[in-house]
Amino acid sequence: MRVDKITTVVLGEMKKRVEKIVALTAYDYYTARVLDGAGVDMILVGDSLGMVVLGYPTTLPVTMEEMIHHTRAVSRGNRRALLVADMPFMSAGVSIEETVRNAGRFVKEAGAEAVKLEGGAEIGAHVEAVVRAGIPVLGHIGLTPQDVLVLGGYKVQGRSDEAAQKLVDDARALRDRGIFALVLECLPAALAARVTESVDVPTIGIGAGPACDGQILVLNDIVGMYEGKAAHFVKRYADIGKSMKDAVGRYADEVRGGVYPDAEHSYQ
Ligand code: KIV
Repeated sequence: MRVDKITTVVLGEMKKRVEKIVALTAYDYYTARVLDGAGVDMILVGDSLGMVVLGYPTTLPVTMEEMIHHTRAVSRGNRRALLVADMPFMSAGVSIEETVRNAGRFVKEAGAEAVKLEGGAEIGAHVEAVVRAGIPVLGHIGLTPQDVLVLGGYKVQGRSDEAAQKLVDDARALRDRGIFALVLECLPAALAARVTESVDVPTIGIGAGPACDGQILVLNDIVGMYEGKAAHFVKRYADIGKSMKDAVGRYADEVRGGVYPDAEHSYQ
């Protein structure tokens, strides 16, 4: 069903209708226009910004100012999709007051319609306070990249019975605190299916198999605009990095050879 504006309520209704939710990341105005024009339901300004746009080795150095700057740009290009901003490392989870204040900045200063917080039951009080302040929260459990130092790398999560049960409990706890949807990152497909059945809010998978209510990927990964090692679950739909290199190479050859600009591309 086509709606004019995707809200958190619409996403909940999509789960009930068993209609898949399509989500992608974006970091700039033009890309937001492309994604929104293509009918993507949710655009996340992920802190993956740090790795695929700003050249950091992890997401940890990303600042609030960088996230606000890019969320503003995406907001200018988006209309229909639900716009979610990722709360960067240390902007949430330290003190509840600071979490709420930072979440509020994304809405007031950058046009975000929701925020995403990484973490399980332990951040429940933060989630609840943000929701109470009037800001919808997207949860994120499983592989939480902001915990990369503690996890010792980017690995599939929930392999043991105990770890799997903790993820189901985390999902329920976050649901009780008021999240509108939940990202499940890098989980065995059967566990993601179990979590999806355990909560009445939509699950959005990334490396979590087909049973999730929706899917999200980092745009740069699927269009070939990132040179780092792609995760096993990433499917590449285009090779824009290669097209750009070819185009720049041809432009350079033509400038050096005196072919560009020709009469057609000059003012007479
Ligand atoms: O930062 C990000 O882009 C993310 C998603 C891909 C879930 O957290």
